[in-house]
Amino acid sequence: MKYHYKEMPESMSGTYGEFAKNFGFDWKEFIMGIPTPMFLVTTYKSNGQPNATMQSWAGFTSANHGGGYYVILCSVNKRGHLYQSLNEKKVAVLNFMSSDLYEACMKTIQNNQFEADEITSSGLTAEKASWVEAPMVAECFMNLECRYLWEKEIVPGDDHVMICLEVVGGHIEKDYMEDMFGDKGILYNVHYPINPENVKEKGCDYVAALRKVNQSYEY
Ligand SMILES: Cc1cc2nc3c(=O)[nH]c(=O)nc-3n(C[C@H](O)[C@H](O)[C@H](O)COP(=O)(O)O)c2cc1C
Repeated sequence: MKYHYKEMPESMSGTYGEFAKNFGFDWKEFIMGIPTPMFLVTTYKSNGQPNATMQSWAGFTSANHGGGYYVILCSVNKRGHLYQSLNEKKVAVLNFMSSDLYEACMKTIQNNQFEADEITSSGLTAEKASWVEAPMVAECFMNLECRYLWEKEIVPGDDHVMICLEVVGGHIEKDYMEDMFGDKGILYNVHYPINPENVKEKGCDYVAALRKVNQSYEY
């Protein structure tokens, strides 16, 4: 049996699923529950201080023509430090945290002052990336060094943009290489799931991990 949703169900009126549109989120996002990978993007601000931005609306892909591995940051706030510093320096590092580092990475949101070293002030270690001019987080199990390629608004005039970065190279912990599905793997963001057939008074976002269910293609 399937439910069918084209307009926002009446049961969602007055819930977070409705008023989150004021922050740019559509009600469909909450009932469809599609997870996205979570990581911390690091750059240098124009004053030389490390910037760190939690990011999770994103996808990864390769290109047939000319090769290469790319990340599309699907929704970057034009008013944030990430947007500003990416436009200035044209490089960034994507840092993937295991669950024990989640709290420290979240602290970067409070430590978001322009003057702050957002990595160190959140209890993490900033080190220089190898191939691009950006900082990276030593404790994260994977750091992908990237260069900026292009940006585009999903809807003309939006205050968030889609940005494409090319992955130049990466630093990857041995534990992750040996077991990508274990406790030390990529975290996913599940944005406040809502069941319109059984709306709860309060809900929350979830941090999720990956579980292997079936073998897929064999090459
Ligand atoms: C799990 C999580 C995911 C986030 N994903 C995004 C995102 O995809 N795009 C975005 O603009 N902000 C996102 N944010 C909000 C930014 O991390 C937050 O506004 C941050 O303070 C911006 O930092 P900046 O000004 O240094 O760029 C996310 C926050 C959290 C907690």
